[in-house]
Amino acid sequence: MKAKDLVYSNKYISMSRDDLVGKLNDALTTSRFNHVLRVEQTAIELAEANGVDPERASIAGLVHDYAKQRPDIDFINAIKEYHLDPVLLDYGNAIWHGVVGWLFVKNELGINDIEILNAVKYHTVGHEVMTKLEQIVYMADYIEPGRDFPEVETARRVTKKSLQDGVAFQAKQTLSYLIENNKPVFPQTIITYNSWVPGNTD
Ligand SMILES: [Fe+2]
Ligand SMILES: [Fe+2]
Repeated sequence: MKAKDLVYSNKYISMSRDDLVGKLNDALTTSRFNHVLRVEQTAIELAEANGVDPERASIAGLVHDYAKQRPDIDFINAIKEYHLDPVLLDYGNAIWHGVVGWLFVKNELGINDIEILNAVKYHTVGHEVMTKLEQIVYMADYIEPGRDFPEVETARRVTKKSLQDGVAFQAKQTLSYLIENNKPVFPQTIITYNSWVPGNTD
């Protein structure tokens, strides 16, 4: 199904898709806005293939990067105000826009569906246990048609065959990438790897 043909039911958000798309257009640069639209469409397709509500996938895909362009101070204030783990202060936007950004999605877009909020929260770092919707957003962000990295075709093929194998593939690639590039690894990224990869035979 094409994203633009979806009619929202008010079950998860009390605005139309057009209004939500408008909010994202306001919050993001053009290139990130276009990325978000591609993630939405990819998430809808993964939802249809995996028995998940496409409306929920559409909303989660659209809002996953809602906080990506917020200034650091917004995240620092939220970490303090909501008494989140202070270790978060050692990281930056790459981690914050999901792990903290879900709070802005909840407060500013009026989304209270816990699965959508968790899909935003874990879309970069993953989680030990992820619902299908959470797996879908994690994978759609990684394999949307604008992505171009050496393993992307393999990632697309694996994910099409099995959503869970896709998650394991990404968890491994992400950890390898961070280590190879001397980048810091957020603890949850290692927990995700340990939960999804060892013992996975694919
Ligand atoms: Fe993101
Ligand atoms: Fe993204």
